[in-house]
Amino acid sequence: MPPTKKVSKDQAKILELINEHKEIEHKEIVEITKIDQVRVAKTILELSEAGFIDSIEKTTQIISLTKEGKGYIKSGLPEKLVFDALKNEKERILLDDFKKNSGINEQLINIAIGWLRRKNWVEFTKEGKKTFVKTKTMSKDIDQEVLLLVKNNEIASKASEPKIKESLANLRKRKIIDIQDVRSRIAKLTPEGKTLVSNGLQIQEKLETILTPKMIITGSWKSKDFKRYDPEENVPQTYIGRKHPVIEVIKEMRDIFIEMGFKEIRGPVIESEFWNFDALFQPQDHPARELADTFKIAKPSKAKLPAKEIVNNVRKTHENGWKTKSTGWGYKWKMSEAEKLCLRTHTTATTCRHLAKAFKEWTPPEKVFSIDKVYRNEAIDFKHLAEFMQFEGIIVDKDLNLRHLMGNLKTFYGKMGFKKIRLIPSFYPYTEPSMSTLIYVDKFKQWFEMGGSGIFRPEVTMPFGVKEKVLAWGQGLDRLVMLKLDLDDIREVYSSNIDRLRNTPLVI
Ligand code: PHE
Repeated sequence: MPPTKKVSKDQAKILELINEHKEIEHKEIVEITKIDQVRVAKTILELSEAGFIDSIEKTTQIISLTKEGKGYIKSGLPEKLVFDALKNEKERILLDDFKKNSGINEQLINIAIGWLRRKNWVEFTKEGKKTFVKTKTMSKDIDQEVLLLVKNNEIASKASEPKIKESLANLRKRKIIDIQDVRSRIAKLTPEGKTLVSNGLQIQEKLETILTPKMIITGSWKSKDFKRYDPEENVPQTYIGRKHPVIEVIKEMRDIFIEMGFKEIRGPVIESEFWNFDALFQPQDHPARELADTFKIAKPSKAKLPAKEIVNNVRKTHENGWKTKSTGWGYKWKMSEAEKLCLRTHTTATTCRHLAKAFKEWTPPEKVFSIDKVYRNEAIDFKHLAEFMQFEGIIVDKDLNLRHLMGNLKTFYGKMGFKKIRLIPSFYPYTEPSMSTLIYVDKFKQWFEMGGSGIFRPEVTMPFGVKEKVLAWGQGLDRLVMLKLDLDDIREVYSSNIDRLRNTPLVI
């Protein structure tokens, strides 16, 4: 660009400032001109692209005293301290005696000895196991001088002298000083820039950036200067607001279930043991109900249980099988256990609540799902959290069998992008048969276990008067999210690391 070019007000201010200072840090330009940092950066970029200035990165060292270093300013370096104490001795002295009697901290003496030896200020003689010391002459101590230079902020201009450099390196190793590299950018005029300034800067009045209808109608555009578009200009990356990626995955799942004809239900996070366990035919002495696995709620201490009839049916089923043709668990069922409260350990508690409303709030066929938080008392690591999510579903109808379960899970996972699924036998106290769901993940060429499923036992369905078959599943959502979002640590699923959130590609 020719040096006769007109410049903007910002450009002029900055060019003049650089001219005055020969070279100047960007930071100082901001401080002196009081122009906003982003605008300074932009103007510097414009000027250097136009060839008027050079913007160079410079590394400066900031040398400072550590806490230990500050202490030595007052007392002198350990070797000096020890030397001074030794100097008073006329004869050589036994090192051990000196350590005991000198009144100087032994640790400090130990530090000093190495340096006294290196600096050749003392002579050590060994007799058997005994070491004697005697002072020689103390040479000029560069370390002590450097320490003072650092303290007085006079080190910068001398730091490159070989001897001082060596001393700085030693003092840094000894953790007496701290050296930090600070990078900054400085701006300088190029020969073109110098000519431009010395010819006298011509200010370009503000350029129009918007062509308005009014300018066209009145014809005023003819006398205006417009800013040119620069499609190659660097602009700061902008991030549009978005939902948390986990919410996006949940939305995708929800849409799929709804597309498949399911309704969404929700249930309480603080759940009675009745719904979380008893109604699912889990005996009251089942280990999963212990504190080691389940978070218990202390207050309130009692849950409100459903209608007496339902509670009684469940009680009898546990005790002797009731009408279900099962023998039950054969123990004395206690209301007080069922009334305890816990954090829901699975969303099966929620589908079970819904099942109990059969013929009161709905009639079969019925298909519902729930996607929600569950809690288990787990040690947390990259694979386990104490708080995680499940997606649960039931289908209630006559004549359902495992093929229907397989079909529904296959459709769901297929729409999520996992084409191959397998059901393998498993065990849950509330289903018979019980199945584990595996999905095949192409990327890892591996099968992943996603959760449980099966057909609810009569011990679960009959207490609610449901004679139809009930297909049920409860699957882990977190692993699905990890696979979808390419994460390998489960803790990242719920992380609010802003960079990761911004850069996670949209799932859909
Ligand atoms: N509730 C089981 C779990 O938490 C999953 C499951 C749900 C199994 C429904 C069978 C039927 O893993």
